Formats: sequence, structure tokens, C-alpha cells
Amino acid sequence: MKNANHAILVTGGAGFIGSNFVLHWLRRRQGALVNLDLLTYAGNPGNLASLHGDSRYIPLRGDICDAELVASILREHRPALIVHFAAESHVDRSIADPGAFIHTNVQGTFTLLEQARRYWSELNEDERKAFRFLHVSTDEVYGTLAPDDPAFSETTPYAPNSPYAASKAASDHLVRAYHHTYGLPVLTTNCSNNYGPFQFPEKLIPLMILNALEGKPLPVYGDGSNVRDWLYVDDHCAAICAVLDQGRVGETYNIGGNSERKNLDVVRTICDLVDEFRPDAAIGPRDRLIKFVTDRPGHDLRYAIDASKITRELGWRPSLQFEAGLRETVSWYLENSAWIESVRTGAYRDWIRQNYEERVPR
Ligand code: NAD
Ligand code: TYD
Repeated sequence: MKNANHAILVTGGAGFIGSNFVLHWLRRRQGALVNLDLLTYAGNPGNLASLHGDSRYIPLRGDICDAELVASILREHRPALIVHFAAESHVDRSIADPGAFIHTNVQGTFTLLEQARRYWSELNEDERKAFRFLHVSTDEVYGTLAPDDPAFSETTPYAPNSPYAASKAASDHLVRAYHHTYGLPVLTTNCSNNYGPFQFPEKLIPLMILNALEGKPLPVYGDGSNVRDWLYVDDHCAAICAVLDQGRVGETYNIGGNSERKNLDVVRTICDLVDEFRPDAAIGPRDRLIKFVTDRPGHDLRYAIDASKITRELGWRPSLQFEAGLRETVSWYLENSAWIESVRTGAYRDWIRQNYEERVPR
């Protein structure tokens, strides 16, 4: 397997997708893995507790915006690969406080690219050839689709609509420019909505699972007709590995689950699963908890991904259908109450109050 023994630097590896990736990678590869993560509200070292005692795993707390720190990590650990997850990632928070998104997603990606370029330019020829900088991005950079529009492909023009999407689009452009101008061997992936273990319960699926379990209202924005394409997180990790190993340098790859669902249908399916696993006579059928609330400003109607390029070129395709992945995810949240309590801090409760208190029933 290509890259099996190479050292890798992961940023944001204590977050949702990053921690799933770290676990996925270390189960399959032998080299050292350095995880640079600031441990913001979204980063949780507990996600990686199972790596305790594994000498290949090197967690470092720090900021990707800190150029000196990034340079010293590259000098000391000499990675052959960088996989960049670190970001502010929640659209609603980007509406409430866009500055943090510009800082981490734009300035942070720039800092990382600039330090990677300096490091890479001093490698020997073989090392330079093997080096890869993989930037993990989102389908939200393409904007929104009407119900019958064709899915996003790699050539769809960028049209980001939220501060989050705009900051990711800016970072994608910087990555592209570092390849075009300096020849840095970059790869970019644009993926649809992920779900699975360790997702912070501010996002739709874990929030709805926990509220349904506890008999709390299920706040559906607007009329619930917005459509997202859902991908099980471990399938995303497998796609990233495929792009790292075989992706063509300078290319972008769209990654999707081929599972477009309306939000209301997702929430109803979660209700059915929680009813099945944890029936509760006092709560009753969970779909009665659904409440339609004030919509998200600028709410994108539909995302859909055409993943034919990565399938054709690299042979990747999603392994799990949405209903099977959602069943696994609901049972994971039901079985991991200690993890849930550890992430529902005071700051988390403040965010939930801030985001939902002003959303009135429609
Ligand atoms: P997340 O919010 O769960 O995790 C982000 C991680 O980055 C956290 O561990 C956080 O501590 C860390 N971080 C934040 N700022 C940092 C900084 N300045 N320096 C170092 N570390 C910092 O995010 P996620 O959902 O795991 O998403 C990871 C990446 O994948 C993001 O770049 C996101 O844009 C992209 N993405 C996410 C999805 C999705 O559905 N969640 C889909 C497509 C792409
Ligand atoms: P989210 O998980 O925040 O991901 P994104 O905005 O990046 O797609 O939201 C997924 C969808 O669910 C999106 O259309 C907004 C909607 N949503 C709700 O209806 N209620 C909620 O409480 C949340 C968090 C999201």
C-alpha cells in the first residue's frame, strides 16, 4: 500500500471527521501520525482515547495560524503527507460570528500552505515527489441547487452562500493557487454532509438523536424541505486515503454518499430509530416532538454531489447506505452517554440557548 510507512501531519484531528480519520489511518498504516489541534469547543482528545499507549500517535495542542509552531512541527517530524481538516465548521455559528471562520479557515489555511511550501522546497527530490498536501473541503462552496438541477461536479462554479462556505471557498482557492504558482503537490476534496460517531451535537443528526432520546423539541428549520446528501464518516475517510494514495496532483475530487434526503425525512427516520431502540411511554412517539422553527438566513435549499470522477479514477464508492449508517449512528449515540456528557459543557449549553431561543415556532 502506498504511503503505508510515511509520517503524516493531520490538522484538526480531534474533531469529528479528523478523529475518525486518525483512527482509520492508524488501523491501516504504520508510520507516525502527528495531530495538530487547537482543541476548540469542537475538538475532543477523548475521541482518540483508544490510541493511548500507541507510540505512533503524537497529539500536539496548537493553532494552525501560528506560523512558528507549524514550521517547527514540520522541521521536527518531517511528514511526507499533510491532511488538513482544522476549521470552524458550523454554518449557524458562522452566521453568528463570522470572524472566527475567516481567521481559522482562511488565515489558518494560508499559514499552513506557506509553511508547507517552505518545508517542501527544501526536501530532496524523492521526498518532494512523494509529498502531498490534502485539503479537506465541502460541497457548500458550490452554493445551492434547485430541485431538478444536476448534482455538483468538480467543474461547477463556486457560489458560496454562508460565511462558512465563503471561508472554505477562499481556502480552496489558496490551495489551488499554491499548486499553480509554486507547484506545491496539493489535492482538494469537496465532500457532502458527514454523519457518524463523534459528531459534535450542534449538527443536525446528533442534535436530533439526543433531543429525541430526552423528549426535547426537535427544531426543524423552515419547512424541513431542504435537501442534503449524507455520507457515513468512515466512507469519507476511505475516500481521503484513496485520494492521498492515487489522486492526481493539483486535482479536486468530489465525494458524496449518493443519499439525498430532505431534512424532515432525516428527522422522522431518527424518531423511528430512537422509538425502536428506546421506547418511552412518557415521551410517546418521538415524531410528535418535531417543531418547525425560524429558518436559517440564506439557507441553501439543496446539495447533491456527482462523485463519478473519484469512482472512475480511484475506484472509491460509498460502502454504506444512509439508512444502515443512520441505524449504526443512532446506536452509537445511545451507547456512548459518557462521551455525550463530556462534550455538553457550559459553553455548549450557551450555544444551544443562543441558537434556539430566538427561533420561534413557525
Ligand atoms: P469539527 O468542527 O468537528 O472539527 C474541527 C477541528 O479543528 C476541531 O478539533 C478543532 O479543535 C480544530 N481546530 C479549529 N480551529 C483550529 C485551529 N485554529 N488550529 C488547529 N485546530 C483547530 O469539523 P469536522 O466536521 O470534523 O470537519 C473537518 C473538516 O472537514 C473541515 O475542514 C470541514 O470544513 C470539512 N468538511 C466537513 C463536513 C461535515 O459534514 N462535517 C463535510 C465536508 C467537509
Ligand atoms: P447542519 O448539520 O448544520 O449541516 P449544514 O448546514 O452544513 O448542511 O444542518 C443540516 C441541515 O439541517 C441544514 O439544512 C440545516 C438543518 N438544521 C435544522 O433544520 N435544525 C437544526 O437544529 C440544525 C442544526 C440544522
